[in-house]
Amino acid sequence: MRMRTARAIQLVGVGAEMAALRLCVWRSTGRALLHSKHPAQFSRANISFASLSKGRKAAISTLGVLTAGGAGLALILHQSVKASELELHAPSYPWSHGGMLSALDHASIRRGYQVYKQVCSACHSMEYLAFRNLVGVSHTEDEAKALAEEIEVVDGPDETGEMFTRPGKLSDYFPKPYASPEAARAANNGALPPDLSYIVNARHGGEDYVFSLLTGYCDPPAGVSLREGLYYNPYFPGQAIGMAPPIYNEILEYDDGTPATMSQVAKDVCTFLRWAAEPEHDQRKKMGLKLLMGSAIILPLVYYLKRHRWSVLKSRKIAYRPPK
Ligand code: HEC
Repeated sequence: MRMRTARAIQLVGVGAEMAALRLCVWRSTGRALLHSKHPAQFSRANISFASLSKGRKAAISTLGVLTAGGAGLALILHQSVKASELELHAPSYPWSHGGMLSALDHASIRRGYQVYKQVCSACHSMEYLAFRNLVGVSHTEDEAKALAEEIEVVDGPDETGEMFTRPGKLSDYFPKPYASPEAARAANNGALPPDLSYIVNARHGGEDYVFSLLTGYCDPPAGVSLREGLYYNPYFPGQAIGMAPPIYNEILEYDDGTPATMSQVAKDVCTFLRWAAEPEHDQRKKMGLKLLMGSAIILPLVYYLKRHRWSVLKSRKIAYRPPK
């Protein structure tokens, strides 16, 4: 009991000290100075713009204007230099999966895989995707197995120490078009076709950029000449790309009968590439929705509890009574 009283006294002591401190702080705030009839005397010199001499006012104003003008000029120069890069930025397209709660279009992923397989895979690898990844996303297990069996995989060694080839399995990764980066460069005029597994995350603008790149080939403007084996594409940094226009109208025939226009093909392959780079896309948005719904219930409860618990503390008033 005695200990408790001692602690209480100690606490009261601390409280009074804090209150005194607060009072001091409050006293020196601007509001207190403005409202009091007798302005407090500062020990330091009272410096304000109004109390300066005319000459000093003019000097400080000139300095301010010059500084602001200089900063503005620097900004404008910086932007004009940036504009001289002559780079066309991809517009943002209304992707069906663009919304906060919208999933990927899986029919489009399936067509996009077909585009990758029949067109892009001639030059580009996707080494982080396995056939099993397609199961339940764009293909059934049997379809994915059948796709895997189309490829030959070198496996081994067998009991005689020899390597052998076997048909692919679900666990096999997508085959690479070239054995090495050197071979890839040699076949493409020295340009290396990048791996497409994560390409939409690896490029500024994501699928908007890839779509624009695929559909944006055009004749070079007058006065621009390109080296042999390079093609003009305003969306590619530097405009001269080592990839020949890979798609055109009717480049393939879709299994599901969708008309294979150039923009359709580009859109489907971009949707497929988005899924490849972010397989958790749909799951992520579903989790987000659950989180929002959960917090719609939890947050008001927590808020109520907080008000309830803190009401005693928040409505408390600590006053300082100066000793007489
Ligand atoms: C004939 C071979 C070939 C085919 C087919 C091909 N590409 Fe390419 N691709 C290249 C080469 C080579 C480069 C590297 C270009 C460079 O760096 O100048 C490249 C680069 C790219 C880039 C990267 C551009 C950048 O910003 O660096 C993307 C994206 C791309 N290709 C997508 C595709 C897609 C999608 C397809 C299928 C529709 C496809 N490519 C088909 C050869 C090909």
